[in-house]
Amino acid sequence: MTSPALIHLVAAARPNFMKVAPLFHALKQEAWCRPLLVHTGQHYDPEMSDVFLRDLGLPAPDVHLCVGSGTHSEQTAAVMVAYEKACMRERPDWVVVVGDVNSTLACTLVAKKLCIPVAHLEAGLRSGDRAMPEEINRIATDALADVLWTPSIDANENLRREGVAEERIQFVGNIMMDSYEFLREKISAEKTAVDINVEPCRYGVVTLHRPSNVDDSGTLGKLVETLCEISSVISLVFPIHPRTWQRLQSFGLMERLTHSKGIRLLEPLGYVRFMSLVQDAALVITDSGGIQEETTYLGIPCLTLRNTTERPITISQGTNRLVSPSTVVEQVRESLSGNWQITVRPQLWDGQTAGRVAASLRSFCVDSSTARG
Ligand code: UD1
Repeated sequence: MTSPALIHLVAAARPNFMKVAPLFHALKQEAWCRPLLVHTGQHYDPEMSDVFLRDLGLPAPDVHLCVGSGTHSEQTAAVMVAYEKACMRERPDWVVVVGDVNSTLACTLVAKKLCIPVAHLEAGLRSGDRAMPEEINRIATDALADVLWTPSIDANENLRREGVAEERIQFVGNIMMDSYEFLREKISAEKTAVDINVEPCRYGVVTLHRPSNVDDSGTLGKLVETLCEISSVISLVFPIHPRTWQRLQSFGLMERLTHSKGIRLLEPLGYVRFMSLVQDAALVITDSGGIQEETTYLGIPCLTLRNTTERPITISQGTNRLVSPSTVVEQVRESLSGNWQITVRPQLWDGQTAGRVAASLRSFCVDSSTARG
């Protein structure tokens, strides 16, 4: 009997863990493969990493690359050097990368240069904005990966437009909803709003971390003023990403927020506590990718502080609207008046994506080992 196929599941940063977890659990049930969790260490603070592993029932990583922070080139290069060594120590049969962070691209490059097949989960998303580091990672990863698992139909269209062969594209749905469904009961029992003493359905959640919003003092200053204005209309709860925390401190903007009565500042929250906070919110103001999807799934108005989105289905079918500092206050009022699109859950956002991905991967592994004889 042949030994089980060794599958690397690469996770790096906060938004990756909820994409990897359902697939890890699904593959653990299968006799034909042995999934190993690879953590590159791009996110390393306990509240950006460990709490997610715990919440999502993931074990300690089998391989930890411990790369930490740096410039884009430093971080991408550090992951490449460390991951190449890991692959040469024990060569995986397949590498699965998720999302669009620097580690996604770095591990794809390493694996392909070692002639190891790569599958990309959450392939085909495009914002059209090449000033976003994630857009570069998406385009380059999709150009190289052998199998492209897409979360929505628009992603298939993007890939076709780029000339990707039909047999590389597989529409599997949105795996983040599997994580939500897996933890639905725990999330509902958590009651984060009550714990922090805000009234359920009477507050907005804020998250900000995109370089385009937080790295320039003028832009971030304007956003802080806008949040203060919104907080006179509705209370805001703002769990602050480490990057944003650093910028608020160094630009001298933190005081303005801490003195604003209607804004609660929190450390970053784990998955269950954060999803509980979102689930009980009246609205969300964000620049995150994943939260645009989670709010569509939950039917909560989402105001995205960006000019573009790689997830347009959350606008056409969901609760998402793109806003700017000059339009967001008006949009908050509109959402509170109840004038907001009722959401439709996009096709295959059904909590069953991991099973489809596992079946797809099995077909490749079994076929290729049969072909090898
Ligand atoms: C990264 C991803 C982004 C994703 C985001 C989610 C890329 C290009 N960007 O951006 O797509 O949406 O994660 O959070 O891959 N830091 C800490 N502790 C940590 C991690 C980071 O203090 O655990 C600090 C770093 O020192 C750095 C800053 O936060 O100054 C930014 O971290 P980094 O991972 O480089 O980028 P993100 O902005 O988190």
